[in-house]
Amino acid sequence: PSLSRRTLLKTGAGLAAYGIGLGAAAFAHRSAEAANSVELEAATGDALLDGQHLTHGVMTYRRKDQAEMLMPPTLRMRKGERFSARLTNRLDEPTTIHWHGLRIDNRMDGVPFLTQPYVYTGDSFDYSFVPPDAGTFWYHPHCNTLTQMGRGMTGMLIVEDPADQTFDADIAINLRDWRLGSDGQFIEMFKPRDAAKNGTFGTVRGANWQIRPDYHAPSGGLVRLRLVASDVTRIYQLKLEGAEALVIALDGQPVPSPFMAENVTLGPGQRLDLVLRMPDTEGATVSLIDTRPSAPKTVALFHAHGQNLKRMLGDVKALAPNPWQEPDLKGAEQVPLILSATAENAARDSFCGSLGYSFWAINRVPWPGDTSDPMAPLAELKLGKSYIFNLENLTPHLHPIHLHGMNFKVISSSTRKVPEAVTDTYLVAADEKVQLALVADNPGDWVLHCHIIEHQKTGMTSYIRVT
Ligand code: C2O
Ligand code: CU
Repeated sequence: PSLSRRTLLKTGAGLAAYGIGLGAAAFAHRSAEAANSVELEAATGDALLDGQHLTHGVMTYRRKDQAEMLMPPTLRMRKGERFSARLTNRLDEPTTIHWHGLRIDNRMDGVPFLTQPYVYTGDSFDYSFVPPDAGTFWYHPHCNTLTQMGRGMTGMLIVEDPADQTFDADIAINLRDWRLGSDGQFIEMFKPRDAAKNGTFGTVRGANWQIRPDYHAPSGGLVRLRLVASDVTRIYQLKLEGAEALVIALDGQPVPSPFMAENVTLGPGQRLDLVLRMPDTEGATVSLIDTRPSAPKTVALFHAHGQNLKRMLGDVKALAPNPWQEPDLKGAEQVPLILSATAENAARDSFCGSLGYSFWAINRVPWPGDTSDPMAPLAELKLGKSYIFNLENLTPHLHPIHLHGMNFKVISSSTRKVPEAVTDTYLVAADEKVQLALVADNPGDWVLHCHIIEHQKTGMTSYIRVT
């Protein structure tokens, strides 16, 4: 059967009936209408994160006039339409919002000192931008990030393209953990010896601020599943059991031909869009499983519900590509981008939550921390020109390298066959050399950093300037 909007609305009770969790704490993330504005407050409070205790000092973005401490709302907006967000800071420390993966005006990028002033306690900042790409993105602060993100400030952001195929349900899942003690309270956000390796892991696994949430989805239906790895440390390797699924987008960018989802690795900052075909039998279970690092762990469940819709995975079409300017590889200028550990372990002071250590460097220079007097850019790019970043990972660890404000194309790797992917975050493997190409098409100072936040905050950060 066709999956036109009309068919969709005629089937059963419509979207509202689906994606609703079975457990008392579970709640829906279903397709709501996209909006053009939102008022958010950065706020602190108590929330139930481990299923047993109220955790104090949880941080979130909450809608203005909302009393409860919930996960930051999944924001939905439309491609090509202006969106405004007023952020009011109710924390007792400065904050900002960075819109991860959105190619927008530099002044809206949310990086203190580089693109905007701090938003101090009690102050507001008006963000306003036109998202050029449809897809699955996310938002988070760029200030004292290990604490602010570690305590909850990671939200999902969906840019809709009205021309996209619609599905029987659209479920967004924010994958992230919590570092809690057995009493449910936050413990130290990191251990220096782990920050110098893979990062410090959470103790409680979470998905949408729940433990193993359980969703209803229509039997025999096609479900668009949007996943973001918003954890400060964890790299996921995801698979589904009990259903087949197609990968339709990676890091918000449509894949040219959808392929079967087997084991998909997702580093902090990265996103995965799947179309999952629910089983025919009412009550049948589909599990989303993380197989990394060793013992497989179920992170979310989906139960087939209602009359069999009998959809076919073969009817899923590729999403329309987002706008992209091909770099001129022949004329491109080469820029080195070398990731290494640093011998220099000097404690450093900075605004915005220094961790007090320096373990990592880009091009041998450890980022001194976010200050009002940032160091020189890693590279100065000319607006409209093409560049190839020669990214070399000299460390034995994986690093999800994220560039603000522009996408790049992965053109070669020393260790694997790379998919023709355009992205904003590349998970570089140990000892891998990779070439990333782009047209410097967005003027401003753009941060480039590892999205394992402890690595970011202990030196693996820099920025490029486009003029
Ligand atoms: Cu998710 Cu500097 O970004
Ligand atoms: Cu890293």
